[in-house]
Amino acid sequence: MPTAFPSSGTPSTEPAARASGLTKTYGKGETRVTALDAVSVEFARGRFTAVMGPSGSGKSTLMHCMAGLDPVTSGSARIGGVELSSLNDRRLTELRREKVGFVFQGFNLLSTLTALENILLPLRLAGRRPEAAWLDTVIATVGLAGRLAHRPSQLSGGQQQRVAVARALLARPEIVFADEPTGNLDSRSGAEVLGFLRESVRELGQTVVMVTHDPVAAAHADRVVFLADGRLVDELREPTADAVLDRMLAFEARGRAS
Ligand SMILES: Nc1ncnc2c1ncn2[C@@H]1O[C@H](COP(=O)(O)OP(=O)(O)O)[C@@H](O)[C@H]1O
Ligand SMILES: [Mg+2]
Repeated sequence: MPTAFPSSGTPSTEPAARASGLTKTYGKGETRVTALDAVSVEFARGRFTAVMGPSGSGKSTLMHCMAGLDPVTSGSARIGGVELSSLNDRRLTELRREKVGFVFQGFNLLSTLTALENILLPLRLAGRRPEAAWLDTVIATVGLAGRLAHRPSQLSGGQQQRVAVARALLARPEIVFADEPTGNLDSRSGAEVLGFLRESVRELGQTVVMVTHDPVAAAHADRVVFLADGRLVDELREPTADAVLDRMLAFEARGRAS
């Protein structure tokens, strides 16, 4: 089995990513919003974690802060033991390129590039060459072998998102963050993309953190953490869709009672 983190010098007991007392506020004065309120959470290596919670609960903010796309207001965000706030812009850009993969709801592919060119783009920007065997493994894992010369407009939504997943996996990142990756897909394409994310964890040892609203999607994960009002309020291990749904309904009932 290929190792997912050949270049990582961090010991294997270190989580792939960790937030400690992570607080994020937007705006000032009366319009100030606390998007995250002292969130502490660890994402273990080689595991698939789902992040759930109502709209506005801070899920995207958590992904952005953990991925170094948005600075934290206070507290700490670490990738593989590296404190993101200790890095200058150049080092942060390097870390994002080398250690973090990001999959967005809207695919974020360049329309003038082929599928293969899109997959290779982050490595190209980093001035690195892909390892041929690994490229083949990733392409096979996401099932894109026959579609590499297609442009995004010639691909279905599900195929486009598979390109985005392949792009995120190619640099062998420490961690992949996926923010509602199946949100714009029909249920069959969504199931395929979830299957590939699951497979990247099982077969390639990848660490994946995925935001979703869907209990069935969350059931693909090893663990589900629940956010409400910018706080981590609960978690489930080895979730089933029914168990996730029960927990969501319990939160809603509690929300109505308060
Ligand atoms: N760039 C921003 N500027 C101001 N407020 C923001 C910004 N991004 C998010 N927020 C606010 O932070 C809170 C959490 O948002 P978000 O992380 O997008 O939630 P979720 O992804 O769970 O729907 C919301 O109240 C949202 O309005
Ligand atoms: Mg969001």
